[in-house]
Amino acid sequence: MPDTLIICPTTDRMDARLRDGFDPIFLRDLDDPVAWLAAHGAGIHYVLTDGHLGVPADILVALPALALISSYGVGYDAIDTGAATERGIPVTHTPGVLDAEVATSALLLCLTCWRGFEGAMEHARSGRWTNGSYRLTRSADNRRVGILGLGRIGKAFVRKLAPFDADILYHGRSKQDVPHRYYTALTDMARDCDTLVSFAPGGAATHHLINAEVMAALGPDGTLINVGRGSVVDEGALITALQTGTLGAAGLDVFEHEPHIPDALRALPNAVLSPHVGSATVETRRAMGDLAIDNLVAARDGAPLLTPVPESAALL
Ligand code: NAP
Ligand code: 8YV
Repeated sequence: MPDTLIICPTTDRMDARLRDGFDPIFLRDLDDPVAWLAAHGAGIHYVLTDGHLGVPADILVALPALALISSYGVGYDAIDTGAATERGIPVTHTPGVLDAEVATSALLLCLTCWRGFEGAMEHARSGRWTNGSYRLTRSADNRRVGILGLGRIGKAFVRKLAPFDADILYHGRSKQDVPHRYYTALTDMARDCDTLVSFAPGGAATHHLINAEVMAALGPDGTLINVGRGSVVDEGALITALQTGTLGAAGLDVFEHEPHIPDALRALPNAVLSPHVGSATVETRRAMGDLAIDNLVAARDGAPLLTPVPESAALL
C-alpha cells in the first residue's frame, strides 16, 4: 500500500529513489484524488512537495498518520507550518545546496538589466543594427547594490558579485556581523543604492515590502531584481513604476501569481523576465532532490532529520 504521497514534479532520479525506499503514489496520477485520499489517506506517512504547491489543507486533513512533510526547495511559505506543528508533523526543506545556483541567476538578471543585453541581442538578431547602433547601457562595475535578505543565497550572491567591485548595502530584520552597511529602513537603503536585489522569503511578514515608495526611492536610474518570492513586490505598483519611468528597470525570476505574468509586465522593454528558474539546473535540482529524499529516509529510519525548518524545532 502507498505510504508516500508525491505532490510536486519530480525527476527520474527522484522517482527511482522513491520507488527504491518507499511505496510512492503520485498525485498527478490520481483521477479522483479526493476519493483516493478518503480510501487510502490513513496509510500515508510521508509527503513530498515543493515551495509552490505546499500541502493543500484538504489534503493535510485526509492524512491522519502523516509523519513528515519534505519540501523540494528552500522557501516554504506555501506550507502551513502552524497547522503541521499543531499536528506534530515536522517539515523539512533544502537549504544550502542551491545557494550558488540562485546567486548565479540573480547575477545574470543584474548583468542583463545593467548592460541591456536582452535588447542588444535582439538588435543583432533582428537586423536593426543596419539602421544604427544599439543604445549605450550601464556598466556592471562599481555599482551600489542593496540587498534585501542577506541570508544564505544573498551571501553567495555577494561573493559572486565581488569581481565587479560593488559597494554592498543590506536590509533585514537584524544587523549581522558582516562588513557591509546595514539599513534599518528599506526605503533608506533603496534611496542610497542603484540596484535593489531581493532574496527575501514569502509570507505575510514580507508581503509587498517592496512597494511604490521603495521603487520611487530607487529612482529612474534604479534597477530592481527579485529572485526571492513574487509576493514581496507589489506587482501592480511595479508595472506603473516601469511604465512611467519612476523606476528604471526590473529583473524578475518570481511573480505574484505564478505562472501568470500580467500582459502589461510582459510588454515592458525595461523588464527582464525569467520563469522561476533560479535553481533550475540538472546539478542543483539533483542535489535538492537528494536532500529532500534523504529527509524522507531519515524519517522512515527514525534518524535525525537533516534539514528541518526552524518552525519544527520544538517537535524534534
Ligand atoms: P535565508 O538564509 O533564511 O535568508 C533569508 C533572508 O531574508 C535573511 O537574511 C533574513 O534576514 C531576511 N528576512 C526574512 N524575513 C524578513 C523580513 N520580514 N524582512 C526583512 N528581511 C527578512 O534564506 P535563503 O536560503 O537565502 O532563501 C531565501 C529565499 O529565496 C527563499 O525563502 C525563497 O523564497 C527564495 N528562493 C528562490 C529561488 C528561485 O528559484 N527564484 C530559489 C531558492 C530560493 P533577517 O532574519 O535579518 O531578517
Ligand atoms: C524552486 C525555490 O522553484 O527553493 C525554492 O524556494 O523557489 C526553487 O528552488 C522550487 O522550490 C523547486 O521545486
